[in-house]
Amino acid sequence: MKTQVLIIGAGPSGLLLGQLLHNAGIDNIILERQTPEYVLSRIRAGILESGTVELLREAGAHRRMEAEGLVHDGVEFLVDDRRIPLALKTLSGGKSVMVYGQTEVTRDLMQARSEAGAQTLYGVSDVALHNLKDGAPYVTFTREGEACRIECDYIAGCDGFHGVSRKAIPAGVLREYECVYPFGWLGLLADTPPVHHELIYAHHERGFVLCSQRSLTRSRYYLQVPLTDNVQTWTDERFWEELKRRLPQELAGKVVTGPSLEKSIAPLRSYVVEPMQYGSLFLVGDAAHIVPPTGAKGLNLAASDVNYLYRILCGVYHQGRQDLLSLYSQLALRRVWKGERFSWFMTRLLHDFQEQSAFDRRMQQAERDYFLGSQAGLTTIAENYVGLPFETVR
Ligand code: APR
Ligand code: PHB
Repeated sequence: MKTQVLIIGAGPSGLLLGQLLHNAGIDNIILERQTPEYVLSRIRAGILESGTVELLREAGAHRRMEAEGLVHDGVEFLVDDRRIPLALKTLSGGKSVMVYGQTEVTRDLMQARSEAGAQTLYGVSDVALHNLKDGAPYVTFTREGEACRIECDYIAGCDGFHGVSRKAIPAGVLREYECVYPFGWLGLLADTPPVHHELIYAHHERGFVLCSQRSLTRSRYYLQVPLTDNVQTWTDERFWEELKRRLPQELAGKVVTGPSLEKSIAPLRSYVVEPMQYGSLFLVGDAAHIVPPTGAKGLNLAASDVNYLYRILCGVYHQGRQDLLSLYSQLALRRVWKGERFSWFMTRLLHDFQEQSAFDRRMQQAERDYFLGSQAGLTTIAENYVGLPFETVR
């Protein structure tokens, strides 16, 4: 088999890139090790920046998102029982975010791809990348017990943090940057109306809380918990009780409880590799970087990489602009690092760091006081939350 761009991974990065390329007449095949059902069973965040929404429109996977997604012009912070609204739209010069689950984004992209008749090979194993530096790259894998090989011009490594693409780059080429946080997020999804119409990011001495949502009838809540906690010890009752303890009375009284549809603990990590290109391999999304979820940037940074790689590949195939390829890593990384900074900043601002010194604790309080108490502080948070602009590829 042969294709122009071989994409490894059918998560949101791979599917979005594949759809945009397909619409632009650039032939691509996606290889995915799981089944479509498994991919759709993963529960992830649900906030789309306006740039991500635009890209989904460009990909033609926007109809259900536009009908069912909820546009949010603000979010709320809650510090020491004080409620601080953040007017995202007013402070960012007119941008908003959309509440629409990543699982739904993935489902829409899968459907668009199957309607377009583009090829995704699910359930493949032993994916291996070859000839990345010497031209004529190809990928080998096993499918239904048979050894297969696909030749291509370029490979997009969209296979997440645990994928094979990044590992295919020889030792010594990549530089890794990492920060692991000493706590996790316990998430609970329930078919109950959200406690408030906006998302609430709350700092509390018992730990951070996020009140999020998927729709007017489905809520998603998160509690900061020690990494050593076992999800089995968190019954639904215990979760709801702890959530209410961390909210002021007027909000706690409005929490509608119900059985959990999903409950899990996720560790928090910041991670970046540089560069994001090696020969004909381009790393995209979680394969190259991870953010803690506090700024809702994971999916949006993946879409940001896709935006750059897609426009570069259009330049290559439509205008013979091979020179653009070497720009991918620096363009993508400039925006990635800003997203990493914002996610790290939001995480440090709002969580309880038990091991920090008395001085650091005061600094953290002063940061909250300053950023959430001044127009300039709120404006910088709003600008980052709705998403920084993409640079033009030229
Ligand atoms: N071969 C084929 N596919 C693979 C392999 C492999 N060896 N390893 C991993 N994959 C697949 C995974 O099964 C998964 O479906 O690659 C896909 C990667 O998808 P994601 O992990 O969702 O990564 P990405 O598409 O970059 O999405 C980024 O998802 O993880 C969240 O927070 C993250 O929101 C962000 C977004
Ligand atoms: C979510 O709804 O899952 C969510 C929302 C905002 C975040 C993180 C997660 O910052």
